[in-house]
Amino acid sequence: MEKVIRLRSGRQGKLRPGHPWVYKNQFLKISPTIKPGDLISVQTSNGKFVGRGYYNPRSEISVRLLTFNDEPLDQIFFNNRIKQAFDRRNPLFSVTNAFRAVFSEADGLPGLIIDIYHNTVVFQVLTLGMDRFKNLILKSIENILKPSFVYEKSVSPFRKVEGLKDSAMWWGSSGEPIIEIFEGKAKFFVDIVNGHKTGFYLDQRKSRLALENFSNGKKVLDLFSYTGGFSVHAGLYGAKYVRSVDIKEEWLELGRKNAILNGVSRKIEFVRGDVFRVLKDISDSNEKFDLVIIDPPSFLKKKESLETASKGYKELNYLGMNILNEGGILATFSCSNKMPNEVFSKTVEEAALIAGKKFTILKRCHQAEDHPIVRSIPETEYLKGYFLKVSTVIHNVGQA
Ligand SMILES: C[S@@+](CC[C@H](N)C(=O)[O-])C[C@H]1O[C@@H](n2cnc3c(N)ncnc32)[C@H](O)[C@@H]1O
Repeated sequence: MEKVIRLRSGRQGKLRPGHPWVYKNQFLKISPTIKPGDLISVQTSNGKFVGRGYYNPRSEISVRLLTFNDEPLDQIFFNNRIKQAFDRRNPLFSVTNAFRAVFSEADGLPGLIIDIYHNTVVFQVLTLGMDRFKNLILKSIENILKPSFVYEKSVSPFRKVEGLKDSAMWWGSSGEPIIEIFEGKAKFFVDIVNGHKTGFYLDQRKSRLALENFSNGKKVLDLFSYTGGFSVHAGLYGAKYVRSVDIKEEWLELGRKNAILNGVSRKIEFVRGDVFRVLKDISDSNEKFDLVIIDPPSFLKKKESLETASKGYKELNYLGMNILNEGGILATFSCSNKMPNEVFSKTVEEAALIAGKKFTILKRCHQAEDHPIVRSIPETEYLKGYFLKVSTVIHNVGQA
C-alpha cells in the first residue's frame, strides 16, 4: 500500500500553488514506516490527494512533489516528462548542440539535471528520492535522448545533506571526457569530468551571444572567464583585444585551446589572477577598456550573507566601471538565486554612485531558455545581469 503523508489543517498546511516543495513543519505526524527516500503521496488533512513525490527528513524541504496528478511515477511518467522537456528545447538546435535538457523543479523533476553535450548526456542526481529512480531515469535517457554516451556526474554538496555519497561514472561504454560543442559561431572544448557544473556554463549562452552587438573594435576585459566563453565570442565578433582573467590555470589552459580552436588566439591574452587584485592593479596603472565583463561565481551561499555578498558585488562593479573608457560598456552578472533582482540592481546603482558614474541599460540578461523560469517556483530564477553604457557624471557647480 502506498505511504501517505497528511498535511496540517489551516494555513500551516497550505502549499504554495504549483510549488513542489513541502516543508517538515507542514506535516501532521509522520508514520514511522515512512523512511528517507520513500515514494509517498501527500494528502490534505481531510484525506484529499495533493500530489506524489519523495520524502527525506534530512532536508527542511522534506517532500518534493513530482506530480499534482494521481498518476504512477513509472517509466511512462519519466519518459513523458523528459520528452516534454526535450521537445521544448528543440528550437535551440539551430544555435547549439549543448544545452540543459532537464532543469530540475523547472521541468517537474526535482533533484534531476540532464545536460546534452553533442553526443553525450551528462546527468546529475541531487536528492535521495530522485536517486531511487535512477534506473528509470537511465532508461528514459536511452529511450528519449538516445545519446552515444551517458556520464553521471552526481557530485554536489547537496548530496551530502541528503545522505548520499557523490557518484561519477560512465554508464555503458566510456565516451570522451573532453567534448567539442558549438554555440552560435563559436566552438568550445568542454571538460565534462573535471569542469565546473556539468562542464560548461550553459546558462550564460544568451549573454555570450549578445556580445555580437557590443564587441566590434573593442578592447575587452573578461573577468572570471572560466574556459574563455565570453572571450572567444568577443574575439569572433570583432574585438581588437581581449584579456581573459581567471584564478585557475586549468581553466585558462582550456581557454587557450578554445581560442586556438576558433582562430582568435592572437587577440586573447589569458591571465591568471584574483580578479579583485587584477582590477586594483589595472586601476592603479590607469589602463582603460571599452567593455568589461564581470561574471563571478555566487558569493552568496547562505541568506545571512546577503550584505557581505552585496559588498563584494558593489566593489567589483565599482572597480569595473572605473576602468572603462568614457561611454564604455559594463556587462555585469549575479548567478545567485538568493540575491533578488532588486538587490542586485540597487548594488550596481550604488557602485555607480560611488564611482561618480551614470549608466543606461542597454540589455537586461537572464539565464538561457533551457533553464526555464517558472513563475510559481521563484527559486528557478537565479541568473541576472545587465549590459550597461557607463559615463561620468559631470557636476555643474552652481554659480554664486
Ligand atoms: C561563473 S564562472 C564564469 C563563467 C564564464 N563567464 C563562462 O561563460 O563560461 C566563475 C569563474 O570565476 C573563477 N573565479 C572564482 N573566484 C575568482 C577570483 N577571485 N578571481 C578570478 N577568478 C575567480 C572560477 O574559477 C570560475 O571559472
